[in-house]
Amino acid sequence: MAGVSRTPLIAGNWKMNLDHLQAIAFVQKLAWTLKDSGHRYQDTEVAIFPPFTDLRSVQTLISADKYEIAFGGQDLSAHDSGAYTGEVSGAFLAALECGYVLIGHSERRQYHGETDEVVAAKVQAALRHGLMPVICVGETAEDREQHGPSAVPVGQLRTALQGVPADADIVVAYEPVWAIGSGQAATPEQAQQVAAALRQLLGEVLSAEAAERTRVLYGGSVKASNIAGFLREPDVDGALVGGASLDLKEFSSIVRFQKHVGV
Ligand code: 13P
Repeated sequence: MAGVSRTPLIAGNWKMNLDHLQAIAFVQKLAWTLKDSGHRYQDTEVAIFPPFTDLRSVQTLISADKYEIAFGGQDLSAHDSGAYTGEVSGAFLAALECGYVLIGHSERRQYHGETDEVVAAKVQAALRHGLMPVICVGETAEDREQHGPSAVPVGQLRTALQGVPADADIVVAYEPVWAIGSGQAATPEQAQQVAAALRQLLGEVLSAEAAERTRVLYGGSVKASNIAGFLREPDVDGALVGGASLDLKEFSSIVRFQKHVGV
């Protein structure tokens, strides 16, 4: 079972899916479903990452109905304001009461040329604005073949942590690129191996206390049928869910993983 001192986090990355009207309907149904099933948010935290254009609607709904679902942006600018057409400042996300922000998702790295240095600058931007960065790292199949399972994700995290104070609140998401959207999830053992290496790095770069406290998530083809295996691992503290986070029944079941972990 994931570290006892760490509250598991189940996070849904919607990617470029659901407009603001669909988002409102989805969040309402998710909140009701979790309420009906007696979900305790203090036992497992739930977060969603909708597209930017949904965030105001999601915030209004969550705040009006006092839902305990956390939310955040899928990216942010490394800059705070100015002539950066198309970019979104962390200040704007904070003003919408976002608690989290995804940084360095492999799709940003792959399709938008985000380097480890850009990711590090975005982590600093998130911390400046009081947003908890969810730092995404992961290797391609080729990386794994050439360098082994942990080298690339550990290297990515090392750069992303530059300038991060030891007492900063961060989340790390290990998402092997070959497992994203492929239906071929890592095995729980594979996820554990890299999660442990990432946690060790947190200890080296930040502090032993930070390594103990920081949640490391697994992402890549997570479903209701495989979530329990990941959360049984000592260094896996939750999941970053893509496709299955858009299916209400599936996502609610993933959130309720403690029902099927059997501990
Ligand atoms: P899938 O769950 O669709 O594989 O996506 C994982 C992911 O990229 C979450 O950020």
